[in-house]
Amino acid sequence: MATASEAPPKTESVKQKRVVFVVGGPGSGKGTQCDLISRDFGVPFFSTGDLIRSLIASGCPEGKQLQDIILQGQIIPSEVTVGLLQKAMASATSDTVLIDGFPRNTENRTVWQSQVGYDCELVLLFDCPEEVMVERLRRRAEGRADDNEETIKKRVQNFKSQMAPVLDYYRAIGKVTTISTDRPVDDIYSELSSLWRQRFAASPV
Ligand code: ADP
Ligand code: C5P
Ligand code: MG
Repeated sequence: MATASEAPPKTESVKQKRVVFVVGGPGSGKGTQCDLISRDFGVPFFSTGDLIRSLIASGCPEGKQLQDIILQGQIIPSEVTVGLLQKAMASATSDTVLIDGFPRNTENRTVWQSQVGYDCELVLLFDCPEEVMVERLRRRAEGRADDNEETIKKRVQNFKSQMAPVLDYYRAIGKVTTISTDRPVDDIYSELSSLWRQRFAASPV
């Protein structure tokens, strides 16, 4: 579905970065926590969902098709998503970047590896019970078209089935760190920020 005008930057022109993928079911709190890490540690944070929504809002030719996929709670073609992430990362001056909501399935993961040419350093898995995630999404008041009962159900199901092999892959190579996110925002952040400090020896800005 990617068009020539959206062709991603060539792999060799993008300097390698330390990439942290933040994954977890819809409503597990990824965006909330990434905002805090980004604010305190000065790490650029890219929300994959936001990048896709911006592409659609820009009035691109494939917008209708992409919006339909989102409303079905499905995952859009990986070449499009990875192209958006490459473009966003190319504008980041920092060596470390946080990517929220990627990968979502094995195709995302393998297209990233072939298109970007290197893998993430760490996968942060946000673990939250389904009923808690669903309740949060019901209350989220961002006016998102996919925050409706039917689509929420599909998103949760797809997360469970499509992420399992991705997590198996990253667990087998020791890259997954799991954080329990069924607790208040400050409690999660306390664990996450101390993990970040230890892991990357960084101080808050
Ligand atoms: P995700 O990006 O994983 O879909 P969000 O960060 O957007 O999740 O959080 C989903 C909703 O839940 C938002 O309305 C957010 O304000 C709220 N939320 C996030 N973290 C928590 C938490 N720890 N406890 C209660 N509500 C939360
Ligand atoms: O992460 P977020 O909840 O913002 O994602 C919203 C939707 O965007 C997903 O349900 C999915 O339809 C689409 N998406 C995707 N591929 C990704 C991330 C998001 O297709 N890697
Ligand atoms: Mg989000």
